[in-house]
Amino acid sequence: MKVAIPKERRAYEARVAATPDSIKRMKPLGLTFLVEAGAGLSAAIPDQAFVDAGAEIVSDNASLLAQADIVLKVGRPLTAAEGGDELAGMKSGAVLISQLDPYRNKEQVADLAQRGITAFAMELVPRITRAQSMDVLSSQANLAGYKAVIDAAEQFGRAFPMMMTAAGTVAPAKVMVMGAGVAGLQAIATARRLGAVVSATDVRLVAKEQVESLGATFVFVDDEEARQAETSGGYAKEMSDAYKAKQAALIAETVRKMDVVICTAQIPGRPAPRLVSDAMVASMKPGSIVIDLAVETGGNCEGSEVGKIVARHGVKIVGYANVPSRLAVDASALYARNLAEFMKLVVAKDGSLAIDPADEIIKGSLLTRDGQIVHPNFAPAPAAAAQ
Ligand code: NAI
Repeated sequence: MKVAIPKERRAYEARVAATPDSIKRMKPLGLTFLVEAGAGLSAAIPDQAFVDAGAEIVSDNASLLAQADIVLKVGRPLTAAEGGDELAGMKSGAVLISQLDPYRNKEQVADLAQRGITAFAMELVPRITRAQSMDVLSSQANLAGYKAVIDAAEQFGRAFPMMMTAAGTVAPAKVMVMGAGVAGLQAIATARRLGAVVSATDVRLVAKEQVESLGATFVFVDDEEARQAETSGGYAKEMSDAYKAKQAALIAETVRKMDVVICTAQIPGRPAPRLVSDAMVASMKPGSIVIDLAVETGGNCEGSEVGKIVARHGVKIVGYANVPSRLAVDASALYARNLAEFMKLVVAKDGSLAIDPADEIIKGSLLTRDGQIVHPNFAPAPAAAAQ
């Protein structure tokens, strides 16, 4: 079987779905690897490095896709409406393994089915122990959490650590992290390593111990609802209006005293919770920084804009798009490794496709197959299907 790695075409995307290392890891599966010319350049991987790992370079995207039995991608394929149909060249029956952002792109899920593509959405791989090495959300969010702090430090006109000098003392930066999941915990650790005084909030009570073990203060509305806020999958639920009001009051009181706020709160399949209002931004000291990692799903901070740094009340609200891609070398290496592990699940030892629909990881991530949407969260309602 031929596995194709196209060059990513979306704006803000510098990552690539395979690396020479991941290709070497997949080699025992007996596959042929075709890499589009220049696919790795923005992640510092020259074509020759892919050739040295045993891949072939194909200069033309259309002929690459036309040959492919499996396509490995980083980002959701562009649609015709987005300026170029990236699926157009794929064969019916071919497999696509990528991040597909399916909750926000249900039309594309239907389109994948219609084209006969077998599509796996890597974001839907369940967070079970066996799937940890395939967990792209964690591998990418971890880097984003680190980079958010570095971006904040770059924008901040002051230092993070306390410095006692002959010319006076520089106070440590006060950093607040909203959402203590994978990105948030890494942001806490990074800000602490830079010497900041860090606090963090989350709606899941289990985050308290994790936050405190990193040396940060946990800011939390502790009520009955919060004790039920975690889903069985470990994610946050959307909270009630009453909880949101209590949380807003507590956050407002804390944010006022902060120099840097790093926003990482997300609810899978839903818009990001709005946690920092314009009034809270106005209460911060001039020169303070808000980094909104949730900007692409609507933002945790009012006024954040995708791909922009917005100045509000003397505060910079940073909404960089695709933050993992800002560390394209490491992000590609980890993502490619996640896909290499996933490939072992869908390719048998003799190099043929072997998709076991009963496997929990396959069941969680397989969106479309044989012209049908097979994932229960996206399958059409029975009434609609009957029409
Ligand atoms: P995420 O990206 O969906 O959300 C980020 C954080 O925002 C979460 O901690 C969430 O609780 C928080 N959040 C949501 N709404 C909020 C609100 N209104 N106010 C404050 N905070 C809010 O989450 P992520 O980082 O993907 O992690 C989700 C869970 O999965 C965590 O419990 C994590 O520990 C767990 N996990 C488990 C793994 C495993 O070993 N199987 C691997 C990775 C993560």
